[in-house]
Amino acid sequence: MTTPTSEQGRLLDHSYDGIQEFDNPLPRWWVWIFWATIAFSAAYTLIPGNAMRGPGRIAEYNAAMAEAARLHPPAAEASEASLMALTNDRQALAAGKQVFVTTCSPCHRPDGGGLIGPNLTDDYWLHGGTITEIHHTITNGVLDKGMPNWGKILKPEQVTDVAAYVYTLHGSNPPNPKLPQGVLAPREK
Ligand code: HEC
Repeated sequence: MTTPTSEQGRLLDHSYDGIQEFDNPLPRWWVWIFWATIAFSAAYTLIPGNAMRGPGRIAEYNAAMAEAARLHPPAAEASEASLMALTNDRQALAAGKQVFVTTCSPCHRPDGGGLIGPNLTDDYWLHGGTITEIHHTITNGVLDKGMPNWGKILKPEQVTDVAAYVYTLHGSNPPNPKLPQGVLAPREK
């Protein structure tokens, strides 16, 4: 067995299963840095301007989120009045028709008479036939029934335009319509 040099520290006098251990102290400079970091952390926490000052990180986060919401307001919910106004807006209806023919017709037929999706021209509605209900269905879809959520796919104006266009299809009586689905909800007036 070799005798320890001074760099290896001294051999401790315990022995476990014949295994002995040197006491190798860490270098003094290392230990001083270690204590210094602890002292620094305590001072850093307590000095004003750090942990003890300001509204706190949660309040700061909320303030930042509120500021972001102010700068980027969510698209205004389409109101019934604004949607009804689009039903008299030729340009909006033309744009809505374009969206309908390209995007919706595979399931609802170009004339809205219904195919995979229901007839959109009759008085029967699964999800409501008011313009806000139609807009809601188009925006959110009926995913488990195969109606996509167009609010995530189309631009907001495209959704409002196509909702207005669908609303105007009512009563157009296309030939060979799909059989009624949903509840009878005739339009007032
Ligand atoms: C992939 C096929 C598919 C496409 C494409 C599709 N739909 Fe549908 N749509 C459906 C199905 C299926 C339903 C019926 C959902 C149910 O059974 O609840 C439906 C329901 C609807 C309803 C509700 C009808 C009611 O009776 O309440 C509206 C309104 C509607 N779709 C509009 C549209 C518009 C507008 C588009 C194009 C932007 C579109 N859909 C594109 C399949 C489709």
